[in-house]
Amino acid sequence: MGVKMFEKLMKDVYWVGKIDWELRKFHGNEYSTHRGSTYNSYLIKDEKTVLIDTVWEPFGKEFVENLKKAVDLKKIDYLVANHAEIDHSGGLEELMKHLPDTIIYCTANGEKSLKGHFHKDWNFVPVKTGDKLNLGRRELIFIEAPMLHWPDSMFCYLTEDNILFSSDAFGEHYATGLFYNNLVDQAELFQECIKYYANILTPFSRLVEKKINEFVSLNLPVEMISPSHGVIWKDNPLQIVHKYLEWSKNYKENQITIVYDTMWNGTRKMAEAIVQGIRLVDEKVAIRVFNISHSDKNDVVTEVFKSKAILVGSPTINRGILSAVAGFLEQIRGLKFKEKKAVAFGTYGWSGESVKMINDGLKEAGFELLNEGIKSIWNPDEKSLDKCVEFGKEIASKTRF
Ligand code: FEO
Repeated sequence: MGVKMFEKLMKDVYWVGKIDWELRKFHGNEYSTHRGSTYNSYLIKDEKTVLIDTVWEPFGKEFVENLKKAVDLKKIDYLVANHAEIDHSGGLEELMKHLPDTIIYCTANGEKSLKGHFHKDWNFVPVKTGDKLNLGRRELIFIEAPMLHWPDSMFCYLTEDNILFSSDAFGEHYATGLFYNNLVDQAELFQECIKYYANILTPFSRLVEKKINEFVSLNLPVEMISPSHGVIWKDNPLQIVHKYLEWSKNYKENQITIVYDTMWNGTRKMAEAIVQGIRLVDEKVAIRVFNISHSDKNDVVTEVFKSKAILVGSPTINRGILSAVAGFLEQIRGLKFKEKKAVAFGTYGWSGESVKMINDGLKEAGFELLNEGIKSIWNPDEKSLDKCVEFGKEIASKTRF
């Protein structure tokens, strides 16, 4: 009989995806997935049968074999591709060998992306917001969601059962066999949710807010939110929508994050003296400190997302900065954080360009500089470290809630 892997979500609605327990890196090596992930595909049976999304390409064959246990493939009338990124469309190539003429509903941009990936002239039918697909007892309503997080992204909504299939939005990289939001460890779940938002959706926050308000204005009841990764929001499903609204509004907590790299520990000593100074002024502010060269960059970005201010440090090397700090600055440049403050620090021996270079990177990333930063020559002595303590006190005062 073999292993069956599908989950009944409601009468005639099934999860038929893949739990990827092993995944530790996603988007190449750009995103760490400490807790694995899932690729969620959904099957709806009605007078017409429809499959929403597939799985990542390495699992394509396994996906199709499993799907056969849930439905006779010939009975699948329609396919929906909410999103063309390969972690959801990768199984299409294998599936289309069995269903070569089946209509694939997607956005116009989805058709372009899918053709770009697969170079196949499948039977694409582009849809727009408000278009409906009659399944018999129920309808599927399409809702375009451009740049959440790709131009092609789309949600769809199943009437009667009131399920929103939200693609990447409201998802997280979290492998679980328990499927539903209320059954998993809540601290782990929300840590993965905020990490996902911070690292993937931050640049599109304005659109997140707009799309949520647009969806709310449609007055559609929501009993379940079924994203493309991680848990299905069944218990109080709108809680994640409220979190997204909170996170989309230039989110910050009472936190300061210090990110640095160091060669001979001088810049590390500066960081630690600055921490002392901050604490002398504000005992309640959360302080996170990372040597970026041996920290997980996505976890650091998550802490930056939660911060009201960041401090970035590097010694000067070859008239520049250490490569791990340069990589971090590039990463936050693309994320377009707003309403966050920042300062630079670092040691030097002769030319001393690092602080200016970090300032330039922070400005380009949209951070508001609190001052010109602080430099310390060679290995900082007591006097230099006292200056760092004073510097920390100044930062705490200027950023106090
Ligand atoms: Fe999960 Fe944008 O793909």
